[in-house]
Amino acid sequence: MWKKWFSKKDNQEQTSYNNIDSARIPKHVAIIMDGNGRWAQKRGFPRTLGHRAGAETLREVVKASAEIGIQVLTAYAFSTENWRRPDEEVSLLMSLLADYLDNEIAELEQNNVQIRFIGKIDELAPTLQKKIEKAQAQTAHNTGLILNLAVNYGGRTEILRAVKIISEQVLNKELELQDINESTIEENLYTVNLPAPDLLIRPSGDFRISNFLLWQMAYTEFWFTEINWPDFKPEHLVQAIYEFQQRERRFGGIKNTKKR
Ligand code: IPE
Ligand code: IPE
Ligand code: MG
Repeated sequence: MWKKWFSKKDNQEQTSYNNIDSARIPKHVAIIMDGNGRWAQKRGFPRTLGHRAGAETLREVVKASAEIGIQVLTAYAFSTENWRRPDEEVSLLMSLLADYLDNEIAELEQNNVQIRFIGKIDELAPTLQKKIEKAQAQTAHNTGLILNLAVNYGGRTEILRAVKIISEQVLNKELELQDINESTIEENLYTVNLPAPDLLIRPSGDFRISNFLLWQMAYTEFWFTEINWPDFKPEHLVQAIYEFQQRERRFGGIKNTKKR
């Protein structure tokens, strides 16, 4: 099935797809879709063209993720800090998201994908919020890949929000201070009921997490590539999964020993 994503010449990538273990596919993959601007600028195009090309990459990667059997794909589309960009760029990004929702629902349906959103959605334009609600409702019955789009998302904002919800419960005497534990926080994050990401992919050659899933990524494996997001292909996803499968995750313990 994955063979179609590789050219015959590319031996290294051929190896990765041949050796990928379908029984150990990461359940949750998170992606920082970065490098659209640089992709465009390198070609002498306006940054906006990079964002358009990036939206196309998302389409392909969603389809590939569903085929591979990933359960959750969280894609970072717009951060709480991205409002600092020029107004025209912000508007273009918002309208690309609206177009994505208008044009992709049928394909998401076809691929049994459930779309969800994380972030401060209530701060987006009302028309966009309506599209988001509609897309979520329309795909809620799908049982395949969960596509979690992070829009107006910030990890710090998410944790702050959880702290406020929990504090209010304590103030209202619905919760005792001594009963607050890690699960209490998890239950009040946007990602409630989703497993933590197993693998984070960041293209574009930057090595940072830029306020993405701060709580959730405590034990996530990181995979970086110099490739900009518009050039990212399903074979890079397979390569990342292959390398993920070569790693040993210890979660603070020692190899092959488990006390609890
Ligand atoms: C990612 O690409 C898209 C968003 C952050 C919305 P960038 O626009 O950040 O591209 P670079 O990092 O400037 O190349
Ligand atoms: C992270 O990329 C946010 C998204 C991809 C949506 P940025 O381009 O905003 O990150 P920094 O500013 O380089 O850290
Ligand atoms: Mg960037």
